[in-house]
Amino acid sequence: MDFKSQLNIKEVPNHIAIIMDGNGRWAKSHNKPRVFGHKKGVLSVRNVVEGAGEIGVKFLTLYAFSTENWNRPKVEVAALMQLLVATISSEVSSLNKNNVRLLTIGDLKSLPGNCERELEKAKEKTKNNTGLSLVLALSYSSKSEIVRAVKKIATSVRDKQIEIDSIDNDLINDYLDTADIPSPELLIRTSGEYRLSNFLLWQIAYSELYFTNKYWPDFTKEDLFEAVFDYQNRERRFGLTSEQIKN
Ligand code: IPE
Ligand code: IPE
Ligand code: MG
Repeated sequence: MDFKSQLNIKEVPNHIAIIMDGNGRWAKSHNKPRVFGHKKGVLSVRNVVEGAGEIGVKFLTLYAFSTENWNRPKVEVAALMQLLVATISSEVSSLNKNNVRLLTIGDLKSLPGNCERELEKAKEKTKNNTGLSLVLALSYSSKSEIVRAVKKIATSVRDKQIEIDSIDNDLINDYLDTADIPSPELLIRTSGEYRLSNFLLWQIAYSELYFTNKYWPDFTKEDLFEAVFDYQNRERRFGLTSEQIKN
């Protein structure tokens, strides 16, 4: 089925977040080393970024490397970091051509120096683009993001920059890595796992969740359109009754 032509273009989510999972199992099923799956996964990223742009998504957040992923075998971590540097530097011109702005969330300082530098360069070079904002979650975990935010808020209170009574949802938002990024309406996870793995716990409080069995390297923009189609056939109630929503 062609899902793209069936989408209501006025109701496309502003922000889609994706837990790109299954590279290793995809590689295993093709009798290849895990890194081969990660390389193939980069092609899916390119395709899905293109698809998100085509339907007018404004923010696409991709979970690329979690805080917990540092505990993987050293060779895999090194290969992922190398792939990241190579991909970022080779993609900047196409990001610019497609008017894509690159952003990041997570603890960039914990990345190898060359990765951090490439990312900062790419963000600087794409900062004036006005199309899709591509947000890479790198060395990211939601709990560590919240811990960092709480420390910053406590410091602001101690230094009398804010009052305790001014702490509310909006203020907490402003202290998270995602301060300038709206909450995702739709969260997708590939590879048949039904968990959040420490991703955007605060931000997805009211997101619609979509799970697919496809491994990330097999996920294409058609699959993205299918997820958006599924999303568009749901009723988001935010605690209200269905009747309230319809009236
Ligand atoms: C997702 O694929 C990519 C990263 C976490 C970096 P995995 O590497 O987790 O693949 P599986 O889950 O082992 O198949
Ligand atoms: C989540 O995938 C992190 C990324 C996609 C970057 P994992 O493969 O690390 O998640 P778990 O450990 O299986 O939950
Ligand atoms: Mg995995």
